[in-house]
Parts: sequence; C-alpha cells; structure tokens
Amino acid sequence: MIGRLNHVAIVVGDLEAEATRYRDVLGAAVSEPHALPDHGVRLVFVDLPNTRVELLTPFDKTSPIHAFLAKGGGLHHVCYEVEDIEASRDRLLASGLRVLGDGDPRIGAHGKPVLFLHPKDFAGTLIELQQA
Ligand code: CO
Repeated sequence: MIGRLNHVAIVVGDLEAEATRYRDVLGAAVSEPHALPDHGVRLVFVDLPNTRVELLTPFDKTSPIHAFLAKGGGLHHVCYEVEDIEASRDRLLASGLRVLGDGDPRIGAHGKPVLFLHPKDFAGTLIELQQA
C-alpha cells in the first residue's frame, strides 16, 4: 500500500538557524522559508537525492505544533505516499487502526490529499499518508 517516503518532518525553534546549519554544515539544498498560515507553520524544504526533510516551526501560538515544540520539538512525523488515499484509509480502518480527525483527507502542505494516523498504532510515530 505505501510507496515512497515523501518526507520526514522535524519541528525546530529557530527555523533560520536550522536552515543555515543544513545548508552550510551538512551541505544540503535548502529552500527559502515558506509561511503556510492555514497549516500553522513556517517551513523550509531540504531536498535530498532520495527524499525531502521539512524543517517546521510554529506560525504562531495557535499552531498545531506549538505544544510539540514546547516539549522540545524534534522528529514530528514521516510521510509515505499512497496511490489512493481513500482506499488506504478504508483498509486501515478495517484493520482497526485509527485515523486522526474526522477521517476525511485534507489538502496538505503540498496541495495533495493527506491523512494522519494515530501514533499509538505505530510505535509512537505520527504517520502522514499523502496521495502520490
Ligand atoms: Co508532512
């Protein structure tokens, strides 16, 4: 069902400092910062040969990642691609696994439908599914 690793998301406190470290020390290709107020984040994309890392910071105190950062931040979620997000959801639910929210896919940060799966069903890891 799952395909490529689309991205790994890491929550950081100082987006500019982390972006500079990835660019200047790790030698990665790092985008300019983007603000996505609807998602409550500012982020940069770190493009790697085989996937992408997203460095996220809260847009403001109402951000869904604000509390996560207050607890220290760090690795937030991994995103796998799926061909058909609704069929994937139905398969997960039929297996007794939990989809966060109302179960309807939302348009994610890349303009594609996404769902998030309950971390308690996946060894404490928040998983995002994105339609490829
Ligand atoms: Co994501």
